Amino acid sequence: MIAAGQKRPRPGSSDEADASNTSGSDMSIFRPPILRNAALTAAASLNKALFTSTYEIAAAQVHDVRLISKYQKALNSSKELLRVERLASVADVPENAATNPAAGDAAPAKPSPKKKCLLLRPGVVPSSPETWSDVLKQGVEKSELGVIPYQLTLNYDHWTSRDVLVSVLPEEFHEDIPAGFNTAGHVAHLNLRDRFKPYKHIVGEVLLDKNPHLRTVINKVDLVGTESVFRTFPYEVLAGPDDMDVEVRENGCTFSFDYSKVYWNSKLEPEHTRLLYLFKPGEVVVDLMAGIGPFAVPAGKRGVFVWANDMNPNSYEALGNAIKRNKAGSYVRPFNEDGLVFIHKSADLVRESSEANEGALDVPDTVDSRNQQGSKPAQAQKQQQQQKQQKQPAKEDSTATSAAGGPKARKQPPPRRHVPVPPTISHFVMNLPASAITFLPCFKGLYAAHEDLFKPVEGAEAPADKVYPKLPIVHTHCFAPKDDDQSIPFGDVRDRVSAELGVEMTLCPRYEDMENDDPLAAESKNLVYVHNVRAVAPHKSMYCASFRLPASVAFAPRTQEGEKKAEKAE
Ligand SMILES: C[S@@+](CC[C@H](N)C(=O)[O-])C[C@H]1O[C@@H](n2cnc3c(N)ncnc32)[C@H](O)[C@@H]1O
Repeated sequence: MIAAGQKRPRPGSSDEADASNTSGSDMSIFRPPILRNAALTAAASLNKALFTSTYEIAAAQVHDVRLISKYQKALNSSKELLRVERLASVADVPENAATNPAAGDAAPAKPSPKKKCLLLRPGVVPSSPETWSDVLKQGVEKSELGVIPYQLTLNYDHWTSRDVLVSVLPEEFHEDIPAGFNTAGHVAHLNLRDRFKPYKHIVGEVLLDKNPHLRTVINKVDLVGTESVFRTFPYEVLAGPDDMDVEVRENGCTFSFDYSKVYWNSKLEPEHTRLLYLFKPGEVVVDLMAGIGPFAVPAGKRGVFVWANDMNPNSYEALGNAIKRNKAGSYVRPFNEDGLVFIHKSADLVRESSEANEGALDVPDTVDSRNQQGSKPAQAQKQQQQQKQQKQPAKEDSTATSAAGGPKARKQPPPRRHVPVPPTISHFVMNLPASAITFLPCFKGLYAAHEDLFKPVEGAEAPADKVYPKLPIVHTHCFAPKDDDQSIPFGDVRDRVSAELGVEMTLCPRYEDMENDDPLAAESKNLVYVHNVRAVAPHKSMYCASFRLPASVAFAPRTQEGEKKAEKAE
């Protein structure tokens, strides 16, 4: 083993095999030393000095810095340029670099920060021109290059967290070294297996060192949800201060919260974004388990009305703060109720709000408020950019003078229009995968005695020009084990939805098929679309089943199972 500050032998020499833990290929020589327990002090912290190794290699000094890029390319082609991950091949010439006229190093001995060299692969020896390629030889002949010895020092800072942990942990741990982890602001959240116990603080320390944006590393000590229905979890601090007040940004909104008291999962961002762009400005969305508002607040900012509910008082508080902070208050209303109760209640509240002619001013300066279609994030960004460019001349105009010589009148922004709350809900979101499907019976009677709000059943009289809303789409998240053949258990999810609704649902392959389905039309197939959200374990994934509420469920009398469940919850 090479201790701190010790030099490693020149790669390629006879004792290289002992010094390197690699197969012997040139590029794999530069590895951290294998330290195992040696680097761990009695206090189970890391002796980082042991990671310093110095290698004797060669470098091509480029006498004229303008030729660096030419020789970088040429030496890369001749396969002499050193290529080590995270290491630049251009370096300063060391101040004590030995001059070697035989090797063409005719440069003056006085050190200059402007003197640059290109690091060369092991095998190129400064004093042995027979180890040089024609590129090097000709460069030296033309006095453009000099081949000099170079001491390459790699220390703890160079290595990745995996490199360091592989170096110190026993081999049987290597497979389980955490590659990715959840983060919430400055907190990294691990889920270490029990056998890591003796090394858990080392893992925390290394992750802190290698991820400058982190300040605290915690480890989950029990299964999520075993302690709290609010999906919070007991944890221990592995490294850094026990400070769980975090701030995160998602979909253009900022959220601050106490990570120990509310649910947050940064891995859900794609799902938050997916649903966000299914909602159209001016529609009403009811988020029954809104958490701190990752669906609700960005949707509100896009001009979507959201009735956002969470039963956890801490989530409700953080949600309220996020609504204020992100100026989404005219579109998003927070509630702190049991979702079971809130299903019927939200339908009533929305209808009453619409009857009272409540609403909001349209969202200024957004593409979305003018374009009533939901648009994909990339498209929205492109459109916003185009808008900015289009705005540029208008800005110049406002400072120009009119033909009459006076300043031109500034263009007035178009008046903001009142956007009314519609009487019906377009989407329900239920992101509580462990149990949301069991909430479905509570949708029975959602619009009992309010059939008039929707498109009349086939054959009934309706004014030709009236646009009737469709029944709401319900997005219910769930977990499901993969089928034995590892295929996605679409059928299983469909069957569970059908059983809870008491209606036989039909799987469809595309969201749009389900969206266009009309439960009030005679030809309705009661379509359900199942989206594969993310794997949560090797054989278990999270899904989102989306379907329009069947008419038989929406218009059933309210005195059924749903009401009873809701009463029980109250
Ligand atoms: C998996 S989290 C999802 C939160 C948020 N939608 C998100 O995507 O981050 C589930 C949320 O449901 C809330 N919750 C649990 N049971 C509930 C219930 N019966 N009614 C309403 N909210 C509930 C929890 O407090 C938690 O915030």
